[in-house]
Amino acid sequence: MSARAPVITLDGPGGAGKGTLASELARALGWWLLDSGALYRLVGLGALREGLDVGREADRASAVAIAEGLSMRFVPDTGEGQRVELAGEDVTEAIRADAVSEAASRWAALPSIREALLARQRDFVAPPGLIADGRDMGTVIFPRAELKLYITASAAERARRRHAQLSEKGVDANLDRIYREIMARDQRDASRGAAPLKPAVDAYVIDTTGDNVATSLSRIQALVAARGWPAD
Ligand code: DC
Repeated sequence: MSARAPVITLDGPGGAGKGTLASELARALGWWLLDSGALYRLVGLGALREGLDVGREADRASAVAIAEGLSMRFVPDTGEGQRVELAGEDVTEAIRADAVSEAASRWAALPSIREALLARQRDFVAPPGLIADGRDMGTVIFPRAELKLYITASAAERARRRHAQLSEKGVDANLDRIYREIMARDQRDASRGAAPLKPAVDAYVIDTTGDNVATSLSRIQALVAARGWPAD
């Protein structure tokens, strides 16, 4: 890690509003943004495309090779959030597909995959600072981060948000099924041996249940301002 650039970590389960808060914060501070989940999604997408099976030893080695060789580019925010390219192909939407979420979560449980992505994540640190969004940013990747946040919300609230998001896109999704999927993914992310999802001991826990983005963001900005970093 570059000694000179500060890091703010945002960890927590999917659907808690972490991604939105991380990109809003990066914009307000003018800092770099690491969406570490996108890296796991790129591995998931690559593995799906090659038909790899997480249960097969030889396929695991192939997935590690995918992780080590990822040729990706994050194209800065254009108002719609950053776009993600894999070997020149725009995969911003493709990596959000349910099948890729599922694959990402399964491959992310393997220590060899996490190890393959470790240095790449630390390489994102650069002046004036980095906002790192993920599951293990404050616990494993940036244990010495200047400010650690753990963003959470009840599973029911996260399911409602995901359902509303899909409805907005015209997708007719079942709230109950989404809720069950969220619970299953949380369970897998929190119970895996490698970098399980949990707050760092020195993290501030921000529960966004019942709050809108502006409210959660102002709570975070109060912590940021207390450290003397100017955010607009
Ligand atoms: O935040 P997300 O939904 O884009 O993450 C996709 C998957 O990757 C999710 O199942 C958890 C996993 N992940 C991880 O294990 N560690 C991270 N730092 C980020 C994501």
